[in-house]
Amino acid sequence: MYNTFNSVHLLILSFSLVISYLFLINLNPEKPMAKCGLIFVSNAAKVHNICQKASKYIQKSLYINLKHDNINLLPIISSQVVELYSKATTHCNNLDVRLMLKLRNPGMPINTKHAIDIVLYDSDLSHEIDDLKKSVKNLSSEYEILSLDLKDVSEQNINVDAIKTYEYVALGGTFDRLHNGHKILLSQAVLRATKHVTVGVTDVNMIQSKKLFELIEPVEQRMEAVLDFLMDINPDLEYNVFPLQDLYGPTKDDPKLQLIVVSEETKRGAIKINEKRRENGLPPMDTHIISLAEDTHPSRSEEEEAKVSSSNQRMRLLGTLLKPPVPNPNIPDWPYVIGLAGGIASGKSNIAEKLKNKGAGLVNCDLIAHDLYKPGLPLNKTLSKEFGEHIVTETGEINRRLLGSIVFSDKDQLEKLNRIVWPEVIKEAQRQISELGKKGHKVVVMEAAVMVRAKWYMYCHQLWSVIIPPEEAVKRLMKRNNLSEEEARQRIGAQPANLEQVAPANMVFSPYWSYEYTQGQIDKAWDHLQEYLKTRY
Ligand SMILES: *[C@@H]1O[C@H](CO)[C@@H](O)[C@H](O)[C@H]1NC(C)=O
Ligand SMILES: *[C@@H]1O[C@H](CO)[C@@H](O)[C@H](O)[C@H]1NC(C)=O
Ligand SMILES: *[C@@H]1O[C@H](CO)[C@@H](O)[C@H](O)[C@H]1NC(C)=O
Repeated sequence: MYNTFNSVHLLILSFSLVISYLFLINLNPEKPMAKCGLIFVSNAAKVHNICQKASKYIQKSLYINLKHDNINLLPIISSQVVELYSKATTHCNNLDVRLMLKLRNPGMPINTKHAIDIVLYDSDLSHEIDDLKKSVKNLSSEYEILSLDLKDVSEQNINVDAIKTYEYVALGGTFDRLHNGHKILLSQAVLRATKHVTVGVTDVNMIQSKKLFELIEPVEQRMEAVLDFLMDINPDLEYNVFPLQDLYGPTKDDPKLQLIVVSEETKRGAIKINEKRRENGLPPMDTHIISLAEDTHPSRSEEEEAKVSSSNQRMRLLGTLLKPPVPNPNIPDWPYVIGLAGGIASGKSNIAEKLKNKGAGLVNCDLIAHDLYKPGLPLNKTLSKEFGEHIVTETGEINRRLLGSIVFSDKDQLEKLNRIVWPEVIKEAQRQISELGKKGHKVVVMEAAVMVRAKWYMYCHQLWSVIIPPEEAVKRLMKRNNLSEEEARQRIGAQPANLEQVAPANMVFSPYWSYEYTQGQIDKAWDHLQEYLKTRY
């Protein structure tokens, strides 16, 4: 009897150990987190602190689905939209949050653009979770399910003014790297539309005056992101997302449009549009103005704007990986070579110095090229054969001035010169790189004015590009080289534009702001590189 009792006891004990072990595995923070989650919430007042809780389980996207239990829900949701996305910026900026605005009716299927790896639900909904789960149409094969305790907020700051809806609603914007500010704007338009939403996405001609416009995504990509978001938050409306060529787009002459949604920043545009409509004999659209969310990003620097903005986001991209490096089998694995590109007066050499301070070896191809013209080097023979003996001085040195005057006005001659000189420069650069490697440098920065034009990044593991606005480059060059504005413009115009420097780059830097802001970019980039190098081989 005693024995039996004991073994039953042991059995129970070991069962409970297994169960708690399983339980532990389930909540083990080391376990790879779910990419994409959906949370069912019983009422809109609970939306406010979801994002913080859910970010413990989810890495990438969070869908929030509300129950449709109140016909007058629109004003509450409208204020929760602002609350939720503002909080998301503070508490889980890495999470792509999507509050679904098509409210849940019993049995209604829920279609999401991304497959759901984890279903979370408000513990108030435990009794109906089986039905809720069945309504999710895009579940991963191995999804998890978990309940959360969510608290109500008191409804003190909820604005209960009734919301007027319209069949046709319009809005516009750049929508670069869709952020929480954009999501508020798009959601407010969707909440007010009963049939159709028209979204103009500014095309290339409209973005060139924007800060760091070189980093703005291509318009096709921005349009796709807008549509993806809209289809997720309400798949039942009709959407027309198109590239916007001017301020007006279809708003100037489409009689169906009834409401335009704008931000404080763009409300003057709405006034102009309505003036144009009046000229065209159309009734003005109603205007809904959204106040801009404050940027509460924990690392917002003084250089950045106070509101959630795309330009802040672009500034934060500086010194981060924009494009993952691909292995380069054409060069030795070590040292790790970073090609550094940048236009004249962009601050490239300054960035190179800062990287040297971090411990990188430095190879300056411009100096190498310069040295190649010195007396006694094999080039003087080749060059005198190709361009005439008169380009070699009595001391055996190349007369660079004379050579310059020959190649500057003649593209073919320039190409000929490059064909002779570039391979020599690269040969010497690679010798120096391997030398620096032997001296113990794990990272070598190879700086060259012609990095992008000559495609020398073929000889590197990564390309980092330095840009400043062309107007600023003109100013700096005039000052540095004592040039007239026209001369400075000419020299800068002769080089690849910032866009070309950025296109092949893995990272981009801009020493346009303060010393500290530039240093911050370097610190970020260097730290990231060190982490990356640890994972290599
Ligand atoms: C479901 O999710 C997958 C992966 O995220 C996606 O490719 C697919 O288009 C989604 N299905 C639907 C019907 O949207
Ligand atoms: C190149 O330089 C060497 C050394 O200064 C000189 O002796 C030689 O004549 C030069 N070659 C030509 C083609 O000028
Ligand atoms: C700058 O250039 C102007 C005009 O060519 C010249 O008069 C002036 O002395 C130069 N200043 C310096 C500091 O070189």
